[in-house]
Amino acid sequence: MIETWGCQMNAHDSEVLAGLLEQMGYLATENENDADVVLLNTCCIREKAENKVFGRLGNLKKLKANNPELILGVCGCMVQRPEMADKIKKRMPHMDLIFGTHNIHQLPDLITEAKQNSTARVKVWDREGKIVEDLPMRRAAGIKAFVNIMYGCNNFCTYCIVPHVRGRERSRHVADIITEIEHLVQQGYVEVMLLGQNVNSYGKDLDNNIDFAGLLKKVNDILGLQRIRFMTSHPRDFTDKLIDSLANCGKVCEHYHLPIQAGSTAILKRMNRGYTKGEYLDLVKQIRQKVPNASITTDIIVGFPGETDADFEDTMDILQRVQFDGAYTFIYSPRPGTPAADMAEQVPPDQKKERFQRLLKLQNSITEEKHLQLLRSTQEVLFEGTSKNDEHIMSGRTRSNKLVHVPADKSVIGKFYLVNITKAQMFSVSGELLEEI
Ligand code: 5AD
Ligand code: SF4
Repeated sequence: MIETWGCQMNAHDSEVLAGLLEQMGYLATENENDADVVLLNTCCIREKAENKVFGRLGNLKKLKANNPELILGVCGCMVQRPEMADKIKKRMPHMDLIFGTHNIHQLPDLITEAKQNSTARVKVWDREGKIVEDLPMRRAAGIKAFVNIMYGCNNFCTYCIVPHVRGRERSRHVADIITEIEHLVQQGYVEVMLLGQNVNSYGKDLDNNIDFAGLLKKVNDILGLQRIRFMTSHPRDFTDKLIDSLANCGKVCEHYHLPIQAGSTAILKRMNRGYTKGEYLDLVKQIRQKVPNASITTDIIVGFPGETDADFEDTMDILQRVQFDGAYTFIYSPRPGTPAADMAEQVPPDQKKERFQRLLKLQNSITEEKHLQLLRSTQEVLFEGTSKNDEHIMSGRTRSNKLVHVPADKSVIGKFYLVNITKAQMFSVSGELLEEI
């Protein structure tokens, strides 16, 4: 059993962990009482995520007491934080394996050793090794697959722990990426999500003169593949050349996740983001000029150290001006070891919460308005599965990544249909099937 916290990158790492376990002869289970191995793949982007993991680690103790043969492991970003592995080892002596993001490929050896000897195994490289290709993966069944194109991040935004736990940027070779996607298409996947902390800097560390725009063109040429998505993009590296190639690659969906983080230029500077409010607005304008129906989503942090009322109003202002299709909003959480955690002028918790609520309210109304704008339009929808609440309702996504619910039977799954949008909700729209494409 594997439990995953955090982002798509972690979700995809869990697919590799599952592949490795399967290769060793294990079968997946969702019931902890049936499990021979329980792995927690953790996140440390905000403090809350870490607290939850500690809670969960604590209650696994009982499981181990009932089944001493059980192998318990904790891995992922949180383990990679300085001194964390020791802390876990001391506070949670029932854990058998503690391994970092750079050590995933060593899982089979770690399990074999743990079976022979019951003392805890700790394997945390503090530096990234070479990319290990050809690891087995147990991907979520379905029609869309995650494909890593690069690992790590070089940006060192001052609030962010990611470069400290995921290492420097390393791009996979084009041939490895293309071969992987070709295999996925052979297996029936029709959509890929290209993953990286900052996909726009793909290729900068390779010597064969390829960049993200070049990679997209090659992926776009893969026969049988229907949709391409990617995340995450850094506004600073979103070049004109890239915008042109987005407009020219027919399979690349018109949805761009472009985290702005804050609206105030002064705060952006202290965050080390490398662009101003005006530059971000220009970028959005350019994208919308070349891709008129582009859907743009973002990430925003509220309460970064030194954020004044006026700074926060800049964030509210940019939300109004851009009219994002959606935004993930976060309260700033100091991460030990990052520069922002030591900055004076930390914003008091009550003020952070109040600003967060205002921001959420504004964005929710914009998101809903965006859904209302889809009413009576015809959308191309790729159906992905049954809706969570009703097995007679199928869900799919538009190219712009809007969630669509339609009464239909399961035969639509994996197919493209034109859908007439008849109803708008806060987080999705509903409609009726027109015809298969
Ligand atoms: N506090 C709050 N939010 C954060 N993020 C990254 N670090 C922090 C932090 N210390 C947010 C950013 C990023 C998203 C994945 O998480 O908005 O884009
Ligand atoms: Fe963190 Fe910034 Fe890198 Fe994104 S670009 S992972 S926010 S350091």
